[in-house]
Amino acid sequence: MKFSTKALHVGQEPDPHTGAVVPPPYLVSIYEKPSALEMNEYEYSRLDNPTRRSLEENIAALENAKRALSFGSGMAAIAAVAQLAKPGERIVAARNVYGGAYRYFETVSKPAGVEIEWTDVNDDEALERATTDNAKMIFFETPSNPLLEITDVRRVVEFAKSRGVLTVLDNTFATPYLQNPLDLGADVALHSTTKYLNGHSDLLGGAAATNDDEIANVLWAHRASAGAIPSAFDCWLTLRSIKTLSLRMERHESNARKIAEFIADQPKIEKTLYPGLPDHPRREIGERQSRGYGGMISFELANKDAAVRFLDSLELFVVAESLGGVESLIGLPWEMSHKTMPPEFKEKVGITDRLVRMSVGIEDVEDLLADIERALGRL
Ligand SMILES: Cc1ncc(COP(=O)(O)O)c(C=O)c1O
Repeated sequence: MKFSTKALHVGQEPDPHTGAVVPPPYLVSIYEKPSALEMNEYEYSRLDNPTRRSLEENIAALENAKRALSFGSGMAAIAAVAQLAKPGERIVAARNVYGGAYRYFETVSKPAGVEIEWTDVNDDEALERATTDNAKMIFFETPSNPLLEITDVRRVVEFAKSRGVLTVLDNTFATPYLQNPLDLGADVALHSTTKYLNGHSDLLGGAAATNDDEIANVLWAHRASAGAIPSAFDCWLTLRSIKTLSLRMERHESNARKIAEFIADQPKIEKTLYPGLPDHPRREIGERQSRGYGGMISFELANKDAAVRFLDSLELFVVAESLGGVESLIGLPWEMSHKTMPPEFKEKVGITDRLVRMSVGIEDVEDLLADIERALGRL
């Protein structure tokens, strides 16, 4: 079955009791036992829920995975995956990740005794040095947030396998429509479903997909115990949204390509980062491992003041946290998504206070271009 067909049908058979083509969400916490000592298929919704199971079957199919688990947020999925490393073991974390992942590893994993080594996963020698004998996993993103850096997934996976280390790839920016980490050899494909998978800026969710039962069991046990589950209603909304993921991603990308080309030509914009631009440093690698460039663009203005004025001058783009919504969003990573990263860390990675991150929506691109042109004219 091809992607768009799976998105519509897997885990979403009509309701067997009523024939309802769209099964209603199971807004329920408890399930009657057949008798005092007999088990039901479902017991308690922290452990399992029919609507959540439908979503998980669907996401597993989209990621070509044996199993997928959904969570109450992308951070809850990251927190579960972090449990794969025990105290004394090491997580080799790409330094160009989402600021929330940085905060989790620094403020939760480290105090719990897990070593965190921040490294440039695109630098072979640095990766080699960071991957000590106690390394358990390499955690990375590609394209990365917010710099849209591309990492060669097969190269990282091959290296990790030679060391017996797991690879976890946060696939939030690409989505399974454009990239399948497990097909490239990664052990876990992770998502903030808050972003493109749900795509309507009205809920939070996360997911982790894997072919490895041992990994899935660790994640399941953590979630069952910690309780970071999504509500059945949010699972139902996410399932509904996934039905249009392929259409939305096509439009996000076609709009983003036109906007990136326009922005790259503007004298007031100093550096445009978009994996589809001809001068993107690892464009070819991106093309080998994914089926498109996505809807995210970052760029630098002359200074922070210009960046702030640009954001405040826009009329259509919404200045807000997050990304992947149908509406165009814009933010300053320095102040927003990466606020919790120390300034010197951000500078080392290349996130400046004049960097702007744009999540291109599915509006008419002519209106978006006019909005950008107008705001640039006011600088
Ligand atoms: C790449 C990436 N991963 C994970 C997360 C965390 O997801 P959530 O906000 O759903 O907890 C985010 C949030 O912005 C993100 O951008």
